[in-house]
Amino acid sequence: MKRLAGKTALITGAARGIGLEFARAYVAEGAQVALCDIDIVRARSAAEEIGPAALAVDMDVTRQESIDKAIAKIVAHFGCIDILVNNAAIFSAAPIVEIDRADYARVFDINVAGTLFTLQAVARHMIETGTRGKIINMASQAGRRGEPLVAVYCASKAAVISLTQSAGLNLVRHGINVNAIAPGVVAGEHWDGVDAFFARYENKPLGQKKKEVAEAVPIGRMADASDLTGMAVFLASGESDYVVAQTFGVDGGNWMS
Ligand SMILES: NC(=O)c1ccc[n+]([C@@H]2O[C@H](COP(=O)([O-])OP(=O)(O)OC[C@H]3O[C@@H](n4cnc5c(N)ncnc54)[C@H](O)[C@@H]3O)[C@@H](O)[C@H]2O)c1
Repeated sequence: MKRLAGKTALITGAARGIGLEFARAYVAEGAQVALCDIDIVRARSAAEEIGPAALAVDMDVTRQESIDKAIAKIVAHFGCIDILVNNAAIFSAAPIVEIDRADYARVFDINVAGTLFTLQAVARHMIETGTRGKIINMASQAGRRGEPLVAVYCASKAAVISLTQSAGLNLVRHGINVNAIAPGVVAGEHWDGVDAFFARYENKPLGQKKKEVAEAVPIGRMADASDLTGMAVFLASGESDYVVAQTFGVDGGNWMS
């Protein structure tokens, strides 16, 4: 028996990267998946590649109307939502003296408010339908420590860990488990952007930061998105019924070191 047979998952930011890899893993475990993203063109081609168990949905986690419309579309198509992965986020970096308010507001709007209000809307749906749901927030090792050039992103991910604790404790009475995953460094387009930032601020050739960071991970390499799917499936499945309000590092030992 597949571990997510008959379940429907909503994954935000699923047009590429980690969210898309989770979508593939959930479908392989028998689930149906809504790939929600502002990049609807890419979400559509990803859904087409996965097949009829996947639905691309235009969704901007910063707009309540967009969140509500997306949920209504998914419920109309699949019937119900059993699993939410709050994965959409953006990275931002600057020295403290160069951080500007507009950038701060954008990062918190997507990474924190986007997580909270998507979680709220899906939790309301789960409570109304009596669904014993699973909610997984994407945090980061960045939420567990400061980094000299990454204050705003680190603070946003610390907020995701905190929201996971409060929402986990509040929603457990409804049979909804809220937990989070804190990856370390994961190869992909997100990290290509991070590398380009450090190339500018630390005056390094492109690719250099990535190489240094990979070598510093105790396991000896950056993660691939597929390194995270075991935890993502576990937290979405009945195997995690007694797991509440936790954030799990899946980082090759990086944060601990
Ligand atoms: N890649 C890493 O090294 C790493 C490490 C730790 C944590 N994470 C976290 O994992 C998650 C996924 O990371 P990734 O590497 O796949 O990122 P990514 O940048 O490759 O993908 C993010 C996706 O989110 C979408 N998105 C952006 N704004 C949105 C919005 N307002 N509404 C809906 N969708 C939106 C983008 O279009 C994109 O498809 C993020 O929460 C990230 O912070 C990543």
